[in-house]
Amino acid sequence: MKTKLGMSRSTAEHLQIFLEIATEAALAAGAVLQVYWGNLDAITEKGRPGDLVTEADKASEAVVLDILRRHLPSHSVLAEESGQIGEKESEYLWVIDPLDGTTNYAHQYPFFAVSIGLMIAGVPQVGVIFDPFHNELFRAAIGLGATLNRRPIRVSQTAELGKSLLVTGFAYDRRETDDNNYAEFCHLTHLTQGVRRSGSAALDLAHVACGRLDGYWERGIAPWDIAAGVVLLAEAGGKVTAYDGSPLSIESGRILATNGLIHASLSEELLSRRGVFPTPRLTEGN
Ligand code: IPD
Ligand code: CA
Ligand code: CA
Repeated sequence: MKTKLGMSRSTAEHLQIFLEIATEAALAAGAVLQVYWGNLDAITEKGRPGDLVTEADKASEAVVLDILRRHLPSHSVLAEESGQIGEKESEYLWVIDPLDGTTNYAHQYPFFAVSIGLMIAGVPQVGVIFDPFHNELFRAAIGLGATLNRRPIRVSQTAELGKSLLVTGFAYDRRETDDNNYAEFCHLTHLTQGVRRSGSAALDLAHVACGRLDGYWERGIAPWDIAAGVVLLAEAGGKVTAYDGSPLSIESGRILATNGLIHASLSEELLSRRGVFPTPRLTEGN
C-alpha cells in the first residue's frame, strides 16, 4: 500500500485508520448537504424519469473525493456521480454514494445520507453512513464492531415474520419491467406488521443494523447504495445475502438483509412471489 501507513501495522489498525478517514469524509460531505438543504438551484433527471441529480450530490461527492485523494492517493474509487477512478481491480476500492435519498432531499423530506464503503480485495470491510439531518453517524469495520454515534449497535431479536417491520425500495426502472418488486411488496405487507419505503437504501441497511427494522430487500440496487451498509449489518449480527440465501455479489443488483432470525422465511416468501404482478402500463392522460 503506497501510503504513509506503515506496512507492519496489523489489519485491525489499518481498518481503524480507514474508518477514521471515511468518517472525516462522511462528516464533511454531510456538512455540504446541510448547506444546500432547501437551497437547490439545479435539479435534473439523469436519464430515467425520477432519477434526480442535484448540485448537492456533486458538491458532496467532490468533498469525499478530495479527502480520499489527500489521505490515500493510490486507492481506487467508484463514486455514483464520477464513476470509476483508478483501476477497477485495485486491492482498495472506495464505493461512494454522496447523497443516498436524492429524491427525498430534493423534496425536503428529511431522510437521506452519505454512504462510504471500502472494499478490500473485493470484500466490503469498512462502512460509514452519515445522516446529517438527524446527526446520526453509523460506522463499522470487519472485526471492529458496528456503532451509532460511537455506541455499539445490534440487530433486533424479532424471530417471526408476522411480528416484523420491513423496508424495501423500487428502482428507477420500475415502469419498464414486470420485475418491479410490486408483487413482493404487496405479499409481504400482508404477512408482516408493515413494509416501509424510505427512499434511502443506505439508511435502510443502517436501520436494520441498529434494530429499528427487522429486514430489508431490494432489486435494481447499485454497489454504492449498499457497500457501507453490508459491513454495518455483518458487524451488528445481521445477515446479508442474495434473495435465495446464497452469498451476496455487490454488483448483482439484488440484496436481502435481515436480523438473521427472519432471513430464511423472508427469502422463501420473496422467491414465491417474483414477477407475478405485471406493471400497470401508463397511458396518455394517466
Ligand atoms: C436510491 C435510494 C432508494 C432506492 C433506489 C436508489 P439515490 O438512491 O437508495 O432508496 O430505492 O434504488 O437508487 O438515487 O437516492 O442515490
Ligand atoms: Ca443511492
Ligand atoms: Ca445518490
